[in-house]
Amino acid sequence: MKTHWYKNAVIYQIYPFSFMDSNNDGWGDIGGIISRLDYIKDLGVTAIWFSPLYKSPDCDYGYDISDYRDIDEKFGTMRDFERLLDECHKRELKVIMDMVINHTSTEHPWFKEAVSDKNSKYRDYYIIRQGRREKGKLLPPSNWASTFTGSAWERIGDSDEFYLHLFCREQADLNWENPEVRKEMADILNFWMDKGVDGFRFDVFNMFSKVYPIRDDDSKKTFQKGAKFFVDGPRMHEFLKELSGNSLSLYDSFSVGESFHPSRENALEYVKEENRELDAIFNFAHLDSDNIGGMKFFRKPFDLLQFKKGLFEPQKDNYGAGWNTLVLENHDNPRSVSRFGIDTEHFRYEAATLLAAVCFLGFGTPFIYMGEELGLTNTRFNNIDEMKDPVSHFVYDLMKHYGMPGGLAFRFIRYGARDHARVPMAWDGTVNGGFNNGHEPWQGSDRSYRQINAEKDLASDRSVYRFYQKVIRLKKENEAAIWGRTEEYAHSSKKIIAYSREYKGEMLFVAANFSKKNVSFDLPEWVSGADLLINNYEGFDKAGKAVSFQPYQVLVFDKRFD
Ligand code: NOJ
Repeated sequence: MKTHWYKNAVIYQIYPFSFMDSNNDGWGDIGGIISRLDYIKDLGVTAIWFSPLYKSPDCDYGYDISDYRDIDEKFGTMRDFERLLDECHKRELKVIMDMVINHTSTEHPWFKEAVSDKNSKYRDYYIIRQGRREKGKLLPPSNWASTFTGSAWERIGDSDEFYLHLFCREQADLNWENPEVRKEMADILNFWMDKGVDGFRFDVFNMFSKVYPIRDDDSKKTFQKGAKFFVDGPRMHEFLKELSGNSLSLYDSFSVGESFHPSRENALEYVKEENRELDAIFNFAHLDSDNIGGMKFFRKPFDLLQFKKGLFEPQKDNYGAGWNTLVLENHDNPRSVSRFGIDTEHFRYEAATLLAAVCFLGFGTPFIYMGEELGLTNTRFNNIDEMKDPVSHFVYDLMKHYGMPGGLAFRFIRYGARDHARVPMAWDGTVNGGFNNGHEPWQGSDRSYRQINAEKDLASDRSVYRFYQKVIRLKKENEAAIWGRTEEYAHSSKKIIAYSREYKGEMLFVAANFSKKNVSFDLPEWVSGADLLINNYEGFDKAGKAVSFQPYQVLVFDKRFD
């Protein structure tokens, strides 16, 4: 059944709230997406992943689902969705839905029944436990922390019971131990695949299984209290195999999992082809190379060695065993070109194109986040009230609670905020960047769409979009770019990132200067006589084997050995 179509695919992510607003109500919608499908098709991608379109009260902007089988009215109707599916398929674009099944919204009818009726079968759909009484005080059942700060337990009304939520308190964790829950989930996947969708991105999938009985996490130094009891839990592999057996493997589907800091061993097990769990998972380790310990708000000087390790390690681990993914941005991260020590005033085009070539020509399926193909930069937020993401607010309040002055706390938040990626897409220089006809968008942005937008980029002779087109074409057509084994060069260089990909006599060589100074680097012997396929500058300076790379210059060579 499986054609493994995702292996030579390139996937484009849309955050529906902010892509295109066709009815000028301030929210992006399905009509808007359909009107821009040709733009996506022209980029050359194979598939689109839609961040959640389902009914949701939007405490976490769609990642809190209250009906898995319906479309939220701000985006349109089920008919609109079916038209979208059809319009995508007409253009040979596959459709990937987001599946948030670690938790539901507390507005989901299951949850409402679970808390209002003690005898309801839905009570066992969630993780509900008695609190602890200590010295007359009612405490949560364990000391686990929600990944979005605070206790992971919320008291149910004025009862002695609590429900578990590893994210916002409006996102109640599902009890995957209950076979009925697992059956519901398989049925939901089948419902969408029967409609014709081609795959799923699973939200925080490696939290489905928890360690029971629930107990305190006594680890002294832990980044996340309770993580050892709810990350990569004991039944994870079993649950995934079952889900695949009852749904995914019955269709020509693609499944990609988003995980919370999986162990290296588990990361590999999840994607091993023979295991039939998931086709791939996301790898984000390289995106922590400019923050402290994975905490996005705490900036540190960019560490290229860490970036390289994070980028290449999963390519090595997964090669020959399972599939890999390549990511620079998504709705949970700031814009890539505004990170990693990049001076966007002077090197935006060079750095955006370097990042694309270096990241996406590696081993794995590239995921491109809307606007990344234009080299969009971060937004200039002026204060916390301009941000909508609950996480920005939680962390800001927490920092202030611990005594940090508001201005300083805001500067931290601004560095790592997810809000940067969630402002309306910059289509042109007109009001709201062409996102709509002038209605105040749900999430405001600054005026930078006047400087950088799709229309302007496409008209420029230094178009990031056209460079992406080139990289995508190469990625889809070149055998080495798709199937090749990655070998890293210049491993310990703090400025150069370089690797080869080799497959059945086809060799690709990618080398780049990830710094704003000129750097000399010796090309390997075998590259002499190779074809230069990609260069983000006009030419390049070479003396013998040594190339003098200009700031953020990237070169890609190809050679056939017969
Ligand atoms: C990961 C999603 O990407 C993020 O946006 C969301 O807030 C959490 N999971 C919780 O669903």
